[in-house]
Amino acid sequence: MIDLSKTSGLPIELKEDLRIKFNPPMANREPTYVRKFSQVLPVLLDPKIVPPVEETYLGYRALALPQDEELFQTAHLQYDLTIVPPLKLGREFNKTMGHYHANLPGTAVAHPEVYEVLHGTALFLIQKMDPDFKEVFSVYAIEAQTGEKVIYPPNYGHIMINVGNDVLVTANWLSTDYQPMYEPVSGKQGMAYYVVAGQGKPYDFIPNPAYGPALAPVRVLSKKFMANFPITGAKPIYTAAVINPKNLAFLNDPLKYAVELSTITS
Ligand SMILES: [Fe+2]
Repeated sequence: MIDLSKTSGLPIELKEDLRIKFNPPMANREPTYVRKFSQVLPVLLDPKIVPPVEETYLGYRALALPQDEELFQTAHLQYDLTIVPPLKLGREFNKTMGHYHANLPGTAVAHPEVYEVLHGTALFLIQKMDPDFKEVFSVYAIEAQTGEKVIYPPNYGHIMINVGNDVLVTANWLSTDYQPMYEPVSGKQGMAYYVVAGQGKPYDFIPNPAYGPALAPVRVLSKKFMANFPITGAKPIYTAAVINPKNLAFLNDPLKYAVELSTITS
């Protein structure tokens, strides 16, 4: 059992079977989804590998303490957990499927998202393409340890990869109005790069040929540019939202916070 209460700000623990144990006042519940190996195959470097397990990761969506439910509903905010065990899928580290968010109606801007590592080591890979998903403009990698927060700017496709030896548990906040788009990632057999065990370093990036020969290099994105957001302070992102949900206003109104959000990748 891994105690996640300090890092998350919620009365939760991770059990051996990778399910969350919700302690009072939270009611126990089943995962919202369990990602099967067969579902992840289309985004793997080698889709012909023999499944090491049946389930690759799982998650819980729209969690809240009972007394906070109304607060988050009114603020159009959703808090999720994702659990990614330390598996190898062929040469690749275990990862999420990846998706983009649809643009807000009548705009060219999509909902951003904020993540926090509750346990383990995550490598976040984000990439921006043209509106027709034909060409990659930029690809960034951000490594984060327990307690660190990462913001996905608007219009960036994203995955997270468990590059550690321990189970990875993350929390995230996003707008309840967001719409995920999986096809732009799955239609290209994954993101622009695959992350595999490195030669003399923790991991390496292998270009995905589906993105063409002139692929943008992977750049490391500094977390210091996320410090403009009150949600990225020392407190768990759950607690920061309870203290003041306006700390997360950028998730529902990215146009108003366009300048701050643009500094993340500048
Ligand atoms: Fe997302």
